[in-house]
Formats: sequence, C-alpha cells, structure tokens
Amino acid sequence: MKRILFICLGNICRSPMAEAIMRKLVKEKGVAEEYEIDSAGLIGYHEGEGSDPRMKSHAYRRGYLLNHISRPIRETDFDEFDHIICMDDSNWERLHRLAPTLEAAEKIERMTDYCRSHVIDHVPDPYYGGAQGFENVIDILEDACQGLLESLE
Ligand code: 4NP
Repeated sequence: MKRILFICLGNICRSPMAEAIMRKLVKEKGVAEEYEIDSAGLIGYHEGEGSDPRMKSHAYRRGYLLNHISRPIRETDFDEFDHIICMDDSNWERLHRLAPTLEAAEKIERMTDYCRSHVIDHVPDPYYGGAQGFENVIDILEDACQGLLESLE
C-alpha cells in the first residue's frame, strides 16, 4: 500500500484538490486499491468544514468532485503515511517543527518537486485571490500528481 497525505494550510483549497486529482488518476490507471490518499491542514480553523466553495466550483468544472472534510494534521499521520507532501515553504517549515522523529521528517516532500512541465517551487495559496488563482492551483496539481504517480508506479 502506498500511503500519501497532502498538506496545506487550511485543508480547504490546495490539499483537498490534490487529493481529488490523485484519486482520479489512480482510479483511471486501475491501481486505486494500491493507494491510501488523504489530506490535512496545518491549522484546525476550518476543521469539520467542506472545501472552499470557490475551489469546489473550479474543481467541478474541471471534472473533480471535492468531498473532503477539513481536518488538522495529527502526530499519528507521521506513522500512518509514507509521503507527506506539502504545498509551500511555510508548510514545509511548520511540518518539520511538528515531525516527532528524524524518520518522520524524512517523509516530508514538496508537491512542486513532482511537476514535469511547470518550473515552480510552490503551489500559491489561492485563498485571498481571484478565479485565476484557483485555475492555476489545478494546473499545477494536475502536473504534479501525474509526476507523483509516475514516480510511484
Ligand atoms: P489552503 O488555503 O491552505 O490551500 O486550504 C487556505 C485556506 C484557509 C486559509 C488560508 C489558506 N485561512 O487563512 O483560513
């Protein structure tokens, strides 16, 4: 089983979008049963809420259904997942502060390191921006999820 946890700040925009894209890719490839895919946030502010309605609507128009309920990361996630994949430098630093062991810290990765066509070092937070920011998030995450799947298969 390949166990992947996507991380962003609020777990209502970027990481649930990554989760939905990755779920669709593994389903299309017929390998869904080999994967455990989840997402979580670094803050619990939106805990229990569905994804941001703007992210949901952009996702829907691109063929994805976002049904994740926001939750904050837990210490046990560092045991339960093999790849803990974050969206930006701030996520990266906060995750390293939370990692309970060196082995746990070594599981932390950057989403953009899996991009094949975008030359970019973070997935920009779309929360305070406009529509183009949400489209950009989907473009980057589709590229990165494709690269991630290729690297794991
Ligand atoms: P996300 O976006 O980290 O991609 O889910 C954000 C969601 C909420 C907030 C910031 C970013 N917030 O400040 O509440």
